Amino acid sequence: MCGIIGYTGHRPAVPFIIEGLRRLEYRGYDSSGVCYAQSGRLNVVRAEGKLALLEDKLANMEVSLATTGMGHTRWATHGAPTENNAHPHRSSRGELCLVHNGIIENYQEHKNALIGKGYCFSSDTDTEVLVNLIADERAAGMPLLQAFANALKKAQGAFALALMSPEEPDVVYAARHSAPLLLGIGQGENFVASDIPAFLPYTRDVVFLEDGEIVRITPGTWQVFSIESLEPLDKRTHHIEWDLQAAQKGGFKHFMLKEIFEQPRVIADCMAGRVDMARREVSIPELADANIPSRLRIVACGTSFHAGLWAAPLFETWAGIPTTVEIASEFRYRSPLLEAGEAVLVISQSGETADTLAALRIAREKDCPVIGVCNVVGSSIAREADAVVFTQAGPEISVASTKALSSQMTALLLMALYWGHRRGVLPAGVMQEALHGLSSLPGHMENSLPALREQAKGLARRYSACKGMFFLGRGQSFPLALEGALKVKELSYIHAEGYAAGEMKHGPIALIEPDFLSFFLAPHDALFAKSKSNLEEVQARSGPVIVLTNPHTEGKELRAAETWTLPEAWGPLNGFLMLCALQLFSYETATCLGKDVDQPRNLAKSVTVE
Ligand code: F6R
Repeated sequence: MCGIIGYTGHRPAVPFIIEGLRRLEYRGYDSSGVCYAQSGRLNVVRAEGKLALLEDKLANMEVSLATTGMGHTRWATHGAPTENNAHPHRSSRGELCLVHNGIIENYQEHKNALIGKGYCFSSDTDTEVLVNLIADERAAGMPLLQAFANALKKAQGAFALALMSPEEPDVVYAARHSAPLLLGIGQGENFVASDIPAFLPYTRDVVFLEDGEIVRITPGTWQVFSIESLEPLDKRTHHIEWDLQAAQKGGFKHFMLKEIFEQPRVIADCMAGRVDMARREVSIPELADANIPSRLRIVACGTSFHAGLWAAPLFETWAGIPTTVEIASEFRYRSPLLEAGEAVLVISQSGETADTLAALRIAREKDCPVIGVCNVVGSSIAREADAVVFTQAGPEISVASTKALSSQMTALLLMALYWGHRRGVLPAGVMQEALHGLSSLPGHMENSLPALREQAKGLARRYSACKGMFFLGRGQSFPLALEGALKVKELSYIHAEGYAAGEMKHGPIALIEPDFLSFFLAPHDALFAKSKSNLEEVQARSGPVIVLTNPHTEGKELRAAETWTLPEAWGPLNGFLMLCALQLFSYETATCLGKDVDQPRNLAKSVTVE
């Protein structure tokens, strides 16, 4: 939800900031802007729409002398996505500039008080209120660092901010509370940003800032302070192992397509160090010291929630742990009762999702142990959970999540095997079958992906004109049906719903007509016959049907349906190939309709607001 970047050093700041914003654009892309210090003044350039429009504006300006600046790419929260509401925002006397990711909840009361003192506002944003609050502290005689901290103490909500003043033209201040912010340490240059790829070509040495911290960077120095006391703090530097290649498209047309095709490697990476094929054992060192929960409460949002739904039956049948799955935004507001021995398992790719983070904090307040399944190392959830299992998927840039889900499913499946084995309840043969299947899954998937893509293309051409779609499945195919519908909705803007196939007759079947597609997930499992009956009920009402299935179910049984046959894998592992097919179908449908696959409208990656 918005990307921010700040730079001070020896290279031209504006081109660097634009390049960094391009790598943060996945966080928001409805407007953008830069602030740069030149000839003792702060200059601000902003544009509505995609970053290219800001670049067009800058193309005719002389900006090459500026070596300090900051930038912003926006996902609107307060005020429409217009140039006027784009960041950076100036204080009303023009002396300070601020970029902001997050929401200041009590902005209205401060705005009223500032108007009373003669401050003027030209935008609808909470950010403009905050920059004036800082200016007001400065006007009262506080040094800038103190003024910044005082204003932040009055602000409620979530923020990651960068601040500049012409009084210190080669300095950038930044601060965070409940929104991501990192410091990058270079040679004669320093960086702040919402995410590592923004500055990765220039440094891999990173300091993760915590809530309640302010940083001051100059070209040659950096220092982190507590917002509360302004005491300098000691911080640890981390070296990032992955490189920019991992955060670029690598020859694919879209990040989404690249990330779909990365899934075989992602599954293999998630198993690495955890699966001992020779001894047929799974070990999760991150959980070695944690008690095995007697009950599990999985809490997550969106695609990560679907991962939890998919894994719940594995925890129950393999590890004998009663498991429930909840949407984080519901869990956090309903005073959940948590039993002794229960653990909350939060799943989050970004590790920054506001609702999931709030759920984690509620569980911790209730003394309930929290286990995180997370992709981003150093994220808030990774830092605040009692134990973290990293999914090791590498950076996921596409706004629509793909490889993160495969990695979460792999990690959760391994956890269920591990706990089941440790508790001595794992059904006979499961470890053997699961590890055998998992070891061949990446190769299997890699071989299947090109053909799946071609099949997805054909189906997308035939069905992208449908006015609506159902995705229907039973058992472990049901969460994948939810995921298939989510992907189509977010990328193609076609109304799509995921349903448990058995629920159709309880109402949804009323929608069936010749231009309403039903996409059945019916693998060759114990529930196939049931799904087949539901499918025939749709066909009897002239509804078009695609059925995703395995070779054993092909043929006469499904004669009238459009069958999409996937190679068969062992038990729950079928879900991984079905997932790829669904992802590719949604990708190709969106492409067919000419939609912007990597930057769908109204969305942003990393949802750090409620
Ligand atoms: C959908 C998607 C979202 C995220 C959700 C949770 O394609 O990406 O539904 O899955 O916002 O995000 P994380 O996993 O980062 O907590």
